[in-house]
Amino acid sequence: MIVTMEVNGEPRSAEVAGWESLLWVLRERLGLLGAKDACLQGECGSCSVLVDGDLVCACLVMAADAEGAQVTTVEGLASSGDLHPVQRSFVDQGAVQCGYCTPGLIVATAHLLEQDPDASDTDVREALAGNLCRCTGYGALVRAVAAARTATATDDGSAAPVGDGADREVRS
Ligand code: FES
Ligand code: FES
Repeated sequence: MIVTMEVNGEPRSAEVAGWESLLWVLRERLGLLGAKDACLQGECGSCSVLVDGDLVCACLVMAADAEGAQVTTVEGLASSGDLHPVQRSFVDQGAVQCGYCTPGLIVATAHLLEQDPDASDTDVREALAGNLCRCTGYGALVRAVAAARTATATDDGSAAPVGDGADREVRS
């Protein structure tokens, strides 16, 4: 079947098999390697993307179910060559970890701050609990989110938009 989506603001189509996940299609059909295939069981958050504004594990979403959806991957956060404020904060605060966990952490953080620009450190730890790293700590991540919290606030106090800005649910 052909699945058509809007990915990072551009219409994309791919021939997919019924068993293929959104993660598989993003990586193997569309060449977007930012979302990582780690556990493939919805446990680690490495494949976090936004689908119609919801934070989801792309490994748990069937590609066919994404027909017509707006999908945002980590590649879609930067605009006009400028890093998203969350990406900038991760760099500035030394919170960039390995290539497996970092993309998902950045997508999840951007989603959190759009939903709750004033998220407390406790909120941050809770929101990132589904993005697993067992090889380092979360201290630098919390510091980076605190820095991004300020950076994402716009003049009117709202957060920088990510995806379509619709109400979102925690990843499945
Ligand atoms: S690869 Fe999807 S949650 Fe781990
Ligand atoms: S999983 Fe990426 S640094 Fe631990």
